Amino acid sequence: MTPSRTRSFIEQEARFGARNYRPVPVVVDRALDCLVWDVEGREYIDMMSAYSAVSHGHLHPRLVAAAHRQLARVAVTSRAYHGTTLGPFLEQLCALAGFERALPMNTGAEAVETAIKCARRWGHRVKGIADGQAEILVARQNFHGRTSTIVGFSSEPDYRAGFGPFAPGFRHFDFGAIASVREATSANTCAVLVEPIQGEAGVILPPPGFFRELRDWCSQNRVLLVMDEVQSGLGRTGKLFAFEHEGIRPDALILGKALGGGLLPVSAFLADAAVMDVFDPGSHGSTFGGNALAAAVALEALLVLQDERLVARSAEMGDYLIARLRAVQRLAGPVIRDVRGRGLWVGVDIDPAHASARELVERLAENGVLSKETHQTVIRFAPPLTISTALIDRAVDTFARVVRARMASATLNPKAPVASGSLEAA
Ligand SMILES: Cc1ncc(COP(=O)(O)O)c(C=O)c1O
Repeated sequence: MTPSRTRSFIEQEARFGARNYRPVPVVVDRALDCLVWDVEGREYIDMMSAYSAVSHGHLHPRLVAAAHRQLARVAVTSRAYHGTTLGPFLEQLCALAGFERALPMNTGAEAVETAIKCARRWGHRVKGIADGQAEILVARQNFHGRTSTIVGFSSEPDYRAGFGPFAPGFRHFDFGAIASVREATSANTCAVLVEPIQGEAGVILPPPGFFRELRDWCSQNRVLLVMDEVQSGLGRTGKLFAFEHEGIRPDALILGKALGGGLLPVSAFLADAAVMDVFDPGSHGSTFGGNALAAAVALEALLVLQDERLVARSAEMGDYLIARLRAVQRLAGPVIRDVRGRGLWVGVDIDPAHASARELVERLAENGVLSKETHQTVIRFAPPLTISTALIDRAVDTFARVVRARMASATLNPKAPVASGSLEAA
C-alpha cells in the first residue's frame, strides 16, 4: 500500500498540475551524488540522472559552492548588460568543444530552435537559398524537444496529435541510411539536424560508418551537419561528445542538460563564426539565457567534468554496466531482447510478449532503483557519471531479482514461457 505522505504529494500534483507526465510513483525529497531519498526516508540508486541533466551527481559540492558564490553577487541581469561570468564560461565551452562561438540558452528545446534559426538564415544569406524556402533534414524517430516547431517534425504520433498546424521546411530520412538522406536532399537543403544516438527512440546506435558518409554528403552538398548532443554530450557516452565515436566533426553542436551541472537549465548552440555570425543584434535572444548564475554554474560544471575525469569514468563504468546487464540478459531468456548503449547510457529492450518495461521500472523503484521506460519496451539506465562499481552491482543485482520474479510469475502463465536458469550469477 502507498504510504500516506507519498500518496498526498502524488494526489496534490495530480489535482493541481497538468496531466502531461506519468511519473514513477516515488516522491523524491532529497538527493546526494548517486543516491536519492523519498519522503518516507527510503533510499534509491539514481540510474536515470534526470535524463543526463545530473551527470555530475546530485548537488555536487563544487557546483553548489559556485552557485552560492555567485548568489552572493548577482544572479540575473538579462543580456542588456555584460557580466563577469558569461565570457569565462563561453571561452571554456568553445575551447572544450572546439568551436569559435557559443550562444547560451536555457532548455535543450530552445537551443534546438536556435540551431534551426541559424541554419535557415545561413541557408538564405550564405548558401543563397530563397528566403522562406530553406529545408532541414531530420531523422525519423528523432527527439529534439517539445516546442510546436520541434514536435511538428517528430514522427511520434503522441507528441504531435492535435498540436498542428506545424511549421513547414522539414524532410525526413531514415536514421542510419545514407541513401535515404540522399533522397531527401534538395537544392534548398540547408542542414541535417540529427542526434548521434537516438535516445528517446530507445538508445538506438547508428550503423558503423553512417556518420562518416553523412559528413561527406553534407560537405559535398554545402549542407550544415548539426548534431543535437543535448543528452549524449559532455561525457554520457564515454567520450566528451558522441560524434567523437564516429571520427567526425559536425558544423554545429547543440548542448544542454549536463551543462547546467544538475542545478540549473543551461543549454548552448555552438558553431564557427562563419555560421554563427548570421545572428546580429535583435535577431535572437532569451531573457534568462547566459545569466550570471547559470554561466557561473555551467563554467564550474565544465571544470569538474575535466578535473574529475568524468568522461573516462563514463567509458569505464559504462563497459562494466553493459557487461553486467548482458550477463542478466543471457540468463533471462526471451524477456530481454537486447542490451545496447555507449558509456553510461544503456537501453534494455524488453519483449512486450513477456513483460512490460513500465511494470519492471515500477518494480525496480519499489526495490530501490530509479530508471525510466521509453516507448513501452525499453528501460533506460543512465546514472550519474560519478557512479561506482559497488552501486552498479547493487542496481544490477536488483534488476536481476526483479526480472527473475517476473520470469517466475510468467512460468505460471503458459502464454508467456521464459527460460530457466539462475540469475544470481549475472
Ligand atoms: C536529444 C535531445 N534534444 C533536445 C531535448 C530537449 O531538451 P529540454 O527538455 O531541455 O528542452 C532533449 C530532451 O530530452 C533531448 O534528449
